[in-house]
Amino acid sequence: MAKIAVVGSYGVGLTVELDRVPDAGETVIGRSFRIDHGGKGSNQAIGAARLGARVDFLTAVGDDTFGQSAGSLWQTEGVHAEIVVTSAATMTAPIFVEPGGENRIVVVPGALEQLSPAHVDAFSDRIAAADVCVVQLEIPVWTALYALEVAAAAGVRTILNPAPAPAEPIAPACDYVTPNESEAPSVAGAQATFVRTLGDRGADLDGELVPAFPATVVDTTGAGDAFTAAFAFALADGLDERQAVRWGCAAGAHMVEHAGVVPGLPTRAQLERRLASLPV
Ligand code: RIB
Repeated sequence: MAKIAVVGSYGVGLTVELDRVPDAGETVIGRSFRIDHGGKGSNQAIGAARLGARVDFLTAVGDDTFGQSAGSLWQTEGVHAEIVVTSAATMTAPIFVEPGGENRIVVVPGALEQLSPAHVDAFSDRIAAADVCVVQLEIPVWTALYALEVAAAAGVRTILNPAPAPAEPIAPACDYVTPNESEAPSVAGAQATFVRTLGDRGADLDGELVPAFPATVVDTTGAGDAFTAAFAFALADGLDERQAVRWGCAAGAHMVEHAGVVPGLPTRAQLERRLASLPV
């Protein structure tokens, strides 16, 4: 069984669908509002578990209603969560989605700011037992980089999804980075294999284009999470890099056809059907 460790965020997405985002000083009327489970770490952990991996997940939440509701989500999804409960609020993420499906996200990390290297140390046995360790940047950058170091020292393959882009460029040492086009400059100095996600064009694997799967876009939120989860799963399951990127592209295509992130993470059967729809 593929084994994946994820060190990252849980948060609640506060999604507004609207015709267009307001300009400064302007008020616009939205079309709908919903509250969803989210956070890039949790999304990627659930994505990998849904494909069949054993997933161990380290995160932090607040001692509040949002934090309390997360435990049952991970139980339902079969994710083994190590939850640090802090005095700060659970992460929230206001998300604005325009009619074309394009999203704009504001992350308020709250409890995640307290996720520290000491918490990673306490989780290090689970990292060492994994085939692949996946980290994103909704947690403090030093904690994310430390988790990658701990994994590498244990001989575990490492993936950094540099989302959101850090305020200052970083040069992480890891096996793979999976930025989108806006995030790529912030990790340009990484000593890693680059897998750049290119939206409806697919992904670039160190200069080689892996084409996208056709999709009818409803909401692009979570496409990067679905990609990274499926890419990590495929690597942990023994596929080669190019095949793993194809899995990522297929998962991203599945995601954009759904409103909300958790409902858009494919099962293995759904992913395999999409892979078969576009022969290599
Ligand atoms: O990548 C999408 C995710 O970013 C959403 O689930 C939201 O919670 C933010 O973390």
